[in-house]
Amino acid sequence: MASEIRDINLAPSGAMKIEWVKNHCDLLRTLEEEFAKTKPFAGKKVALSVHLEAKTAYLCKVLKAGGAEMFVTGSNPLSTQDDVAAALVADGLEVHAWHGSTPEEYDAHIRAVLKIGPNIIIDDGGDLVHMMHTEFKDLIPQVIGGCEETTTGILRLEAMNRDGKLEFPMVRVNNAQCKHFFDNRYGTGQSVWDGINRTTNLIVAGKTVVVAGYGWCGKGVSMRAKGLGAKVIVTEIDPVKAIEAVMDGFEVMPMKKAAALGDFFVTVTGCDKVIEEEDFMEMKDGAILCNAGHFDCEIDMAGLRKMAVESHELRNNIIGYKLSNGNTLAVLGEGRLVNLACGDGHPAEIMDMSFAIQALSAKYLVEHGAELKEKLIDVPADVDREVAVKKLAFLGKEIDVLTPEQEKYLNSSAV
Ligand SMILES: NC(=O)c1ccc[n+]([C@@H]2O[C@H](COP(=O)([O-])OP(=O)(O)OC[C@H]3O[C@@H](n4cnc5c(N)ncnc54)[C@H](O)[C@@H]3O)[C@@H](O)[C@H]2O)c1
Repeated sequence: MASEIRDINLAPSGAMKIEWVKNHCDLLRTLEEEFAKTKPFAGKKVALSVHLEAKTAYLCKVLKAGGAEMFVTGSNPLSTQDDVAAALVADGLEVHAWHGSTPEEYDAHIRAVLKIGPNIIIDDGGDLVHMMHTEFKDLIPQVIGGCEETTTGILRLEAMNRDGKLEFPMVRVNNAQCKHFFDNRYGTGQSVWDGINRTTNLIVAGKTVVVAGYGWCGKGVSMRAKGLGAKVIVTEIDPVKAIEAVMDGFEVMPMKKAAALGDFFVTVTGCDKVIEEEDFMEMKDGAILCNAGHFDCEIDMAGLRKMAVESHELRNNIIGYKLSNGNTLAVLGEGRLVNLACGDGHPAEIMDMSFAIQALSAKYLVEHGAELKEKLIDVPADVDREVAVKKLAFLGKEIDVLTPEQEKYLNSSAV
């Protein structure tokens, strides 16, 4: 089937972005060279649905260098960059994605990369796996397995697995240490503020930032807000995470109280309706709302659209919703992941680690998929460690090594 993209003439701009990424992704570059020789994916079809910007495009090229036939789509209607999609097509990959796709077009693109009968699935948020199990059951026997990139996708997989509905092995890439320690915390922490700052062009110092969720991403978003000079309020449902936020120096309170205080709101929980109708009515005039969680349900956009007496574009990627109390709330990127809908996503060096884990996990599935007993597996510890060891070397850092005496001490029961 022919690719479906906006405009192939955009390819040179996309190619330049991918080249920039390649020059900052040491691990992936090494893997590309290795895979080009060993061809671990020879004869395998890979369907991939990940936010389609330059880092993802480079992952696709690395897998292709390893012999994979690539079928690529995005994982959010607003995160696809049309020039990057065009560059992949110019390089001979099949792509079905464009920026600003309608829900129907988004589903049609997911369908297009599944109907080719993939052997490996690389998913971000669970849409490929979900549709494979509903619309393409007949193609499931060809699937060796897949990899899931994000927390929300893993929650969906765990629910499917509990219900006995998951029919092929999936690797929890997000749960690898070299993924969530860095991608969710430092990647989201930096790129969320990059998205907010470039979209609003407003000062953060001296303002109050409300961060909903103090998980891996929320910690990063809060830490960087503090670094920009904001007063940070955290909302949580988990008492342990709430104590962690207190001890990290942040105010903690329920959203019902925080709503009246925030100048900026960032939701990053993976949960539904974290900011809802009664919260909107409490907010200050001009409050800025955005989401960094996977789905656009954390800010109740349907509720906000319904209760707004008027809405209009305030600036590129910002819609103002005027409420009956006269206040206007400014929502960035339609409530979709602000770092991708209003920016370029995580820094390249961060995705170098995440996508090295993806590529090595996909290779592991090709080599071991048939013998796996569990349907939901973790990234093998030696893969996680290999990525850490190599990244540290690329960072030019050395660490200590246990002496035989120390090793004996640590492993002795007679301490
Ligand atoms: N924007 C990005 O680039 C990016 C990157 C990685 C992950 N994600 C997504 O971000 C979300 C969070 O990921 P994470 O890795 O931080 O997950 P996590 O599980 O580490 O943290 C989520 C936190 O939210 C809290 N929470 C849940 N419901 C809440 C509610 N109603 N109110 C307040 N707090 C609530 C939980 O207690 C938890 O501490 C997921 O949807 C994930 O897929 C986005």
